[in-house]
Amino acid sequence: MVLQACVSRPLEVVEERTPESAHRTIVGIAGSPGAGKTTIGELLVERLGAGAQLVSMDGFHLAQTRLVELGRRDRMGAPDTFDVAGFVELLASLRFSAESVAAPGFDRVTEEAVPGAVRVAPDTRVVVVEGNYLLHDDGGWEAVAPLLDVSLFVAVGREIRLARLVERHERFGKSGPDARAWALGPDEANARLVEATSSRADYILHLGPLG
Ligand SMILES: Nc1ncnc2c1ncn2[C@@H]1O[C@H](COP(=O)(O)OP(=O)(O)O)[C@@H](O)[C@H]1O
Ligand SMILES: [Mg+2]
Repeated sequence: MVLQACVSRPLEVVEERTPESAHRTIVGIAGSPGAGKTTIGELLVERLGAGAQLVSMDGFHLAQTRLVELGRRDRMGAPDTFDVAGFVELLASLRFSAESVAAPGFDRVTEEAVPGAVRVAPDTRVVVVEGNYLLHDDGGWEAVAPLLDVSLFVAVGREIRLARLVERHERFGKSGPDARAWALGPDEANARLVEATSSRADYILHLGPLG
């Protein structure tokens, strides 16, 4: 399958780097909204097998109530709408602690983080972390890249990405016009910020329509 081929190179990279490290290997997957980070991350973890776990930056979205207080509900997903410090703290624990570490998930229906959704066990050697701003360089995000052993940037054409985003927004309850407005508005603004960070990645994965 074509999508399987996309993870061949990341798989080699991860396997090369893992044996030497005393700490857990942290693999970062960055990319714009809808680029396919979660999909690639899931596939990579599946291929790595037992001992690998996926953690998403999405678990650090601020709560809806907090976004409303901040007047940022309509920009959910922008760099300042995440608990960056909490995310950095989690990455440091994942990297340096030999203990079991709990990580949050994200519910796309309620659009709220889900505390403790993921357990990273003591014998987990590789953590694949995926999210928009792993390579962002201000607002506290600059502390993320130094905690990654290797970073990958998922690059995909804008039209494909937009179509996927609109489909996803509709699947999780937005009307057609709302889905397009969100994809072309806040998502697009975030995509521009994310794309500006691609040069910091160790590897860029160029993915076509079928992956
Ligand atoms: N290579 C691919 N080919 C076809 N559809 C894909 C591919 N990668 C992702 N998708 C679909 O596109 C949407 C966005 O992918 P996702 O992995 O959630 O992106 P991200 O995590 O970067 O926002 C999802 O609905 C997913 O099923
Ligand atoms: Mg995702």
